[in-house]
Amino acid sequence: PWRMFDALRRHDPVHWQPEPAPNSGFWAVTRHADIVRVDRDPDTFTSTRFVNLEEVDDDLMEIRRSMLETDGPRHHTLRRLLQRDFSHRAVAQYEVFLRGLTAHTLDAALAKGRFDFVADIAADFPINVLARMLDVPDGDTRKLIEWGNRIIGNTDPDYADVLLHSEESERYRNLPFRSPAALEVFAYGRALAAERRGGTGTDLVSKLANQLPADGTPLSDNDFDNYFLLLVVAGNETTRHAISHSMLALLQHPDQLARLREEPALMPTAVEEFLRWASPVYHFRRTATRDVELGGTRIREGDKVVLWFASGNRDEDVFDDPYTFDVGRRNNDHVTFGKGSPHFCLGNTLARLEIRVIFEELLPRLADIRLAGEVRRVRSNFVNGIKELPVEVTLA
Ligand code: HEM
Repeated sequence: PWRMFDALRRHDPVHWQPEPAPNSGFWAVTRHADIVRVDRDPDTFTSTRFVNLEEVDDDLMEIRRSMLETDGPRHHTLRRLLQRDFSHRAVAQYEVFLRGLTAHTLDAALAKGRFDFVADIAADFPINVLARMLDVPDGDTRKLIEWGNRIIGNTDPDYADVLLHSEESERYRNLPFRSPAALEVFAYGRALAAERRGGTGTDLVSKLANQLPADGTPLSDNDFDNYFLLLVVAGNETTRHAISHSMLALLQHPDQLARLREEPALMPTAVEEFLRWASPVYHFRRTATRDVELGGTRIREGDKVVLWFASGNRDEDVFDDPYTFDVGRRNNDHVTFGKGSPHFCLGNTLARLEIRVIFEELLPRLADIRLAGEVRRVRSNFVNGIKELPVEVTLA
């Protein structure tokens, strides 16, 4: 999509993209400055009409609504329930666990010599971390991984729960959720919460089950379901693709791989460059609450406004040589997690830590790593995903 984004930024930065009903079109916002302006102004550009391109029926919205689709004080209150658990300090406590998990995952994969980096390293890693934060019993981690995986990439025919473009999709059209796995996740989450209600656990489920939101309105069953599902979904596929793209970028830029190996102190800037380069989430959507002008274009109340983060991350007004992958890049003001939004990714510190730890552990173990086959990408306009990345390694 990169050439298309370049042309849009240059010639039509707030572009009207017509679409057949029921979606009926959207504004494509492609410049970094405009993306930030929209992201900072939730009063004018609301998330409450949902945030993907897909149109959601009004009656399903209330059933599906999580904090991601809530604005204002209630959003703030819901986010605060777990904000501290995703802070730098809280996340840093997982580093030891992460290193152990990484060592285990890497040693198993590397011993094979030739393997799929996605399946053997990137895929289960993020959801294993979430399983730990939710304190899912060891025996259940596998189930959570399977649900997480069934919910991902739902526009790609290769995945199990392909619902949007298959005949199956009709059957699920009127279910509250596209993926039947989501319903299983709800039942599971509720059972965990029931066990932990009234207890003193410090895991995320116990907190959701036992904390009264600061506004005094308890979480409804529906709120709990959607919160739990959001935690399982938001950090899984995104982080997986971030890890896979980071690896692919290093494979395609051997000079940068060599540089990072020689200068491990570059890891912090490298992680930011991985995130800019990968742009695992192409876009999120807002809806205009009033007539407003953006980038010289008149937007009407009710119009969909789509923030193309991937395009913002290649904006030449913000990044020098945006198509140069540079692990030492300074002033890397990427919009991979959003920018200035109250919805700015809650898991950003965790995602950054996961990526850093994986590459800090991986690089010293390797004498060499090469592409060993075709890279296969996820079919989706929402996630910039990789589903197969065959590599071959020589151990250090
Ligand atoms: C929100 C991207 C990893 C949890 C977001 C948003 C973006 C994003 C762009 C903003 C959505 C919006 O503005 O409407 C990413 C990327 C990740 C990642 C690219 C990996 C590289 C994670 C992880 C978690 C997580 C590991 C952990 C559970 C969340 C949550 C929200 C969110 C809960 C909603 C926050 C709110 O509505 O206030 N993410 N994310 N994300 N992310 Fe992430």
